[in-house]
Amino acid sequence: MGTPMDSARLPPWTPPDPTRRLGVLISGRGSNMQALLDAIAAGRLDATPAVVVSNRADAPGLAIARDAGVETLVVEHRGWKDRAAYDARLADVLEEHGVSLVCLAGFMRIVGPALLERFPQRVLNIHPSLLPAFPGLDAQQQAFDHGVRITGATVHVVDEGLDAGPIVAQAAVPVLDDDTANSLAARILVEEHRLYPVAVARVLDGGWRIEGRRFVVRRDVEAAPALR
Ligand code: GRF
Repeated sequence: MGTPMDSARLPPWTPPDPTRRLGVLISGRGSNMQALLDAIAAGRLDATPAVVVSNRADAPGLAIARDAGVETLVVEHRGWKDRAAYDARLADVLEEHGVSLVCLAGFMRIVGPALLERFPQRVLNIHPSLLPAFPGLDAQQQAFDHGVRITGATVHVVDEGLDAGPIVAQAAVPVLDDDTANSLAARILVEEHRLYPVAVARVLDGGWRIEGRRFVVRRDVEAAPALR
């Protein structure tokens, strides 16, 4: 049971994001970025895609963003003094574009404090497993090899751990008897594309706070349909 002392120590509820400007970081295919752009275009996600940044010039997702009329930038991760210098450059670029929420979408770099401290609780990631199971690379293959019967997708607030921050939303995906790691990954991806826009809307709408490890939504905030 919580005591008045406990609630006195809790942070205030996060207000709605007044600008709702997304910065999306990618490294490759960009299908989750596309899901966000599609949701915005379809009016399911009230946000503005301010900029898409890739650490790789050959990321196929860059063309998808450009075709959708979104500004793109390449900020190569090589050639910086250290990771903090790279992260600070990313944060500069995002700030220059007025970004209020950073969405990692297949961004294959670990983001550290030099970026996170400038976007506190404002960096989200999508991961293709039910975290905390199977963090890191090839989560779908890890789940398949482990023999779990249910896996899925997770959207979480990014902290300094690997795939470790507070969980905003999850979707479960059963492992079928005739699955391969590839067929499983494909079904998880469908859920990722559904989940990410819903979770982004949840974060932008406010009425939540982080309590310890938990992303807690205020009781009177109506759940988005896909999160019910
Ligand atoms: C997705 O499976 C995502 O969960 C993971 O990396 C993959 C990126 O795919 N973080 P895409 O570039 O969004 O198509």
